[in-house]
Amino acid sequence: MNFVAIILTLLGVMAGVQESLPSRYFKSKGHHGRKAENEPPFTEKYFSQIVDHFNFNSMGNGTFNQRYLITEKYWDRKNGPIFFYTGNEGDIWDFALNSGFITELAEQQRALVIFAEHRYYGKSLPFGQESFNIPQVGLLTVEQALADFALLISQLKQELGASNCPVIVFGGSYGGMLSAYMRQRYPNLVAGALAASAPVLSTAGMGDPRQFFRDVTSDFEGYAPECSAAVRGAFQRVQDLAEHQAYDRLQSAFALCKKPSSPGDVRQLKGFLRNAFTLLAMLDYPYSTHFWGDMPAHPVKVACEAMLSGPDLLANLRNTSGIVYNSTGEQTCFDLYSLYVECADPTGCGLGSNSLAWDYQACTEIELCYESNNVTDMFPAMTFTPAERLAYCSKRWGVTPRPGWLQTQYWGDALSTASNIIYSNGDLDPWANGGVRTSLSPSVVAINITDGAHHLDLRGSNDADPASVISARKTEANLIAQWVAMERLRLK
Ligand SMILES: *[C@@H]1O[C@H](CO)[C@@H](O)[C@H](O)[C@H]1NC(C)=O
Ligand SMILES: *[C@@H]1O[C@H](CO)[C@@H](O)[C@H](O)[C@H]1NC(C)=O
Ligand SMILES: *[C@@H]1O[C@H](CO)[C@@H](O)[C@H](O)[C@H]1NC(C)=O
Ligand SMILES: *[C@@H]1O[C@H](CO)[C@@H](O)[C@H](O)[C@H]1NC(C)=O
Ligand SMILES: *[C@@H]1O[C@H](CO)[C@@H](O)[C@H](O)[C@H]1NC(C)=O
Repeated sequence: MNFVAIILTLLGVMAGVQESLPSRYFKSKGHHGRKAENEPPFTEKYFSQIVDHFNFNSMGNGTFNQRYLITEKYWDRKNGPIFFYTGNEGDIWDFALNSGFITELAEQQRALVIFAEHRYYGKSLPFGQESFNIPQVGLLTVEQALADFALLISQLKQELGASNCPVIVFGGSYGGMLSAYMRQRYPNLVAGALAASAPVLSTAGMGDPRQFFRDVTSDFEGYAPECSAAVRGAFQRVQDLAEHQAYDRLQSAFALCKKPSSPGDVRQLKGFLRNAFTLLAMLDYPYSTHFWGDMPAHPVKVACEAMLSGPDLLANLRNTSGIVYNSTGEQTCFDLYSLYVECADPTGCGLGSNSLAWDYQACTEIELCYESNNVTDMFPAMTFTPAERLAYCSKRWGVTPRPGWLQTQYWGDALSTASNIIYSNGDLDPWANGGVRTSLSPSVVAINITDGAHHLDLRGSNDADPASVISARKTEANLIAQWVAMERLRLK
């Protein structure tokens, strides 16, 4: 991410320009950046989508343009299955260009491929520039998004003469949650779901608030115990300087554009630094990626090498955060408030208008009350309790979160009563232990990917892939082929 891009992004947001929006974590290059060599020939289309599926009065039959990408390149026309990606919190191109497994599998199983954008993200804004105003933002719910996908699937099946084609849904992270929910909520339309790295339990309030940052810490400890010790030591130095209000020292140590001048600024600095480790852990892929910004191969290893590169812990910490925030080498200083925005998701909301949408979702249905405490993790103690969430959300969006709603709505601890869902998780991924880790029935299957980070299995094959992801993809392909065969019998 370069400095010009950030300025342009900020100007864009301020001017309300909705072009080339950044995804949740980062300014993404989207499809405007480098093109993957065997990039599938997606066509970008828009679907006239119902604005409010659940209230016939409020919006009448009003519609908005929902973006989706489609390719028939691999399809056994009118006969092969439909692989449908349930878009999550970002520009749909980012997911389409970073989910090569789906097109590889489509080629094998002769499937039609569709990537549908989630309402309120990317270019699918129901009220254009006004989408993030109150009350317009109120139609941003998981339920509306699922209904969008259901309607899109039914309509496209009709238009394409594909009524006998089984539909399999795919998604990663929040998109994985949506794919599982689609199978639970619309089994009439969806024969099975691959929910990759989907934290369905923690986001429904059924997790441990300490889990996320503990697992980020484990990744660094797993590289070397000295690494996590160095991170703790560096944060201790930050804390000492902050206590002595040595703001000049903090500014020079971290090359901050503006001198911190209050406890609020120090909190922002800690959040900014902690967020770098979150991204390094989530994106710990064995090759370099350009999904959420530019990441080197094995970023946790690279970060630990930086943390252990000399006696000056603060310089090391600054260099480590530079892997995330200065990947282009073009930042002359770090602007804390433009590179990291504190929000209702302590793992980061990203920048730009997609981050507004995610903040709203984290303030309503999706529970992300994760804390760091410097005991079970290596970070400074930073809480985010349900009470803090409530205070923030009522002030920011005028809403009162409803803890427990996702648990009630999407089956909580009774997921064994579902069917045809794969929950895959990478052991390196800090989201993994917020998801389903053991198989719940012969058709609700958990897959562990030992050396995998955040939904590595959805990415296209790579020479650097560990054996665990190759084997996971085989299991997934087999189960999906079985579901397609079963559904074909039902549809005949
Ligand atoms: C909505 O319904 C009204 C009357 O029922 C009709 O005239 C109008 O064309 C409809 N609009 C859309 C977008 O379908
Ligand atoms: C973290 O805990 C250690 C051990 O209790 C303590 O010495 C240190 O001051 C704490 N660090 C921070 C940043 O609070
Ligand atoms: C930080 O990175 C720069 C540039 O890569 C390097 O020259 C410097 O030695 C590093 N500093 C530390 C303390 O590792
Ligand atoms: C960004 O990286 C470049 C090249 O390594 C370095 O010269 C510069 O100091 C870094 N910026 C910050 C804020 O650390
Ligand atoms: C996956 O790993 C978790 C946590 O390490 C373990 O509890 C679980 O039994 C494993 N599940 C499978 C399906 O191997």
